Amino acid sequence: MERVVGTCIGKTCSSVRVFHMGPGKKLNGVQGNITLFRLCSSGNCAQNGDRAMLDRIIRVDHAGEYGANRIYAGQMAVLGRSSVGPIIQHMWNQEKEHLKKFNELIVSHRVRPTVLLPFWNVAGFALGAGTALLGRKGAMACTVAVEESISEHYNSQIRTLMERDPEKYRDLLQVIKKFRDEELEHQDTGLEHDAELTLGYSLLKNLIQVGCRAAIFLSERV
Ligand SMILES: [Fe+2]
Ligand SMILES: [Fe+2]
Repeated sequence: MERVVGTCIGKTCSSVRVFHMGPGKKLNGVQGNITLFRLCSSGNCAQNGDRAMLDRIIRVDHAGEYGANRIYAGQMAVLGRSSVGPIIQHMWNQEKEHLKKFNELIVSHRVRPTVLLPFWNVAGFALGAGTALLGRKGAMACTVAVEESISEHYNSQIRTLMERDPEKYRDLLQVIKKFRDEELEHQDTGLEHDAELTLGYSLLKNLIQVGCRAAIFLSERV
């Protein structure tokens, strides 16, 4: 005999526990092959959902800021001594602060960093250096593409946290809003420095943004 008792309702619940009782055992006078699903209470479901959401947000933002640092490191390796060197350095300095904050948050919230960090290390540097090899405008086109993606991503996180619980997530919201504003400044800096005059600007921007979306998707999950 196979009996299934209950099920977990709610998309965000991840704490359903399954018990199986072999054919020789008895439960409440019923003998047989019984599978029990222990329900999580709705409170636990919500808590688990919040925890999973927070994990995703901190993991992906940490990965994004790490990648941004590597991009600016790549750009500086090529253009550090050029006229745009100080401008890139200024943006990189802000990215260092962003990463420092998410390094703290990943520890204080006990979030596992993405396993893809070694890949973002290499890919970020290659993207920064590669576009910088196209020249000053190429580097700025890369900055515009990446920073637009990151600021949109931060905006979507702000919406999620505001809908969930603005009071509970006040500190994190403050951090993300500040960083979003600085990413927008970086985007403006790129535009002010002739990003759009790069040969094949639209194609380059679209390609980089497809990569950013894939990086965000993966870093939230693994
Ligand atoms: Fe950043
Ligand atoms: Fe940035």
